[in-house]
Amino acid sequence: MTNTNGSSIDTTFASKIFHKVLPNFEEENKKIINRLYTLKNTTKGIERSNQLGWHSDVNIQNYPEFDEFNKHLKFTLGEIFTFYDYDPNYELDIHSFWGNINPKYGYNNTHSHPHCLWSGVYYLQTPENCGNIHFVDPVKPRIHYQAQFRNDKSLLASSSIFYVAETSKLIIFPAYLEHFVKPNMSDTDRISLSFNIRLNPKPYK
Ligand SMILES: [Fe+2]
Repeated sequence: MTNTNGSSIDTTFASKIFHKVLPNFEEENKKIINRLYTLKNTTKGIERSNQLGWHSDVNIQNYPEFDEFNKHLKFTLGEIFTFYDYDPNYELDIHSFWGNINPKYGYNNTHSHPHCLWSGVYYLQTPENCGNIHFVDPVKPRIHYQAQFRNDKSLLASSSIFYVAETSKLIIFPAYLEHFVKPNMSDTDRISLSFNIRLNPKPYK
């Protein structure tokens, strides 16, 4: 990028976050939500960064209720693959895929997703004040000098940024990027899907 005075500005090692709202997905969301409540009622789930919330087992992507969502996910992974110019002998695959149902006060501690390349979240039900996802500045040495900015919207004015939880929104972020989710302060469950992605060699044909 070139500034108006002619200086060149490079963005190096920046973390890219892909996000989009899936169009006309309300009916699909309902089907997925029903499947998640069925799983919640029939399986124990597991504990990871989730506090007070239910986290499903980690490989639930093959239920038919997820088919339409998986099509959109694969399309978006294709966009990321092209953007990063990965080796065409490889492909971005779902490594793990789970559901989250967070009741009032449910939140997620700060964590990242080791041993994966990309991670993501997809929001199925987001009542008001249900808790946003915050991403933490991965450049840790930046804390050694706190610069002053005109306002908190200025570039790098904060050590974390948040994305508003919005129904039908898909967010895909680097798996190394630490993140946390604020407590759900509504009386209705916040419901989402999460997944991890790896770059694997294409199967031999
Ligand atoms: Fe996470």
